Amino acid sequence: MRIAIANVLNADEVSQLRSSLESVRFLDGRATAGYAAREVKHNRQADSLDRNTSALRDLAAERILSNELFRLAARPKQLTPITFSKYEPGMRYGNHVDDALMSGIRADVSFTLFLSEPSSYDGGELVIDTTAGEDAIKLEAGSMIVYPATSLHRVAEVTRGERLAAVGWARSLIREEAKRELLFDLDTARKRLFAREGKSEDYDLLSKSSANLLRMWAED
Ligand code: NI
Repeated sequence: MRIAIANVLNADEVSQLRSSLESVRFLDGRATAGYAAREVKHNRQADSLDRNTSALRDLAAERILSNELFRLAARPKQLTPITFSKYEPGMRYGNHVDDALMSGIRADVSFTLFLSEPSSYDGGELVIDTTAGEDAIKLEAGSMIVYPATSLHRVAEVTRGERLAAVGWARSLIREEAKRELLFDLDTARKRLFAREGKSEDYDLLSKSSANLLRMWAED
């Protein structure tokens, strides 16, 4: 399941983050890529040893983890440290699959939080391989795409401007994508039912199923 979440950061937070990142050192992204991904990875990443980077990571992580839609779709137990990436003209990240473990944490769910306005750069789409073909994604600044970490994906070459994004991974309480989707659908329907008719008998039954499936599947 892929889900786009709008307004993870509001406009003020986006500009604050963007201007703070101007004073952060960016390094060659190949330093954190495996031997095969290194061949196709052409971007820059905020230096994780820069003290400013960790404060910005914390801010982004706090906003992401407090987003209700993200919590429902990803069921996060823990986030890996967030990476700020920058693509300038000519930079791209070819097809790859993300590592299974990031900083010792199992990566179940990947996310990209867009920080640049789409009109300020050309190219730079996140292209995800699906059984139905490729899906090219480019969202408003402050919006985030959440997708299974099991997917092959790439970042198309930026041909104008600069593409800034925050990327990261979540270890989910629910390892399997199909189960996460089932719980997401069930809870979404449950909430709509509650909005429509309050705490009815049907609502209680759906709540029971949702809670007990979570109990059955959660790896805490
Ligand atoms: Ni990736």
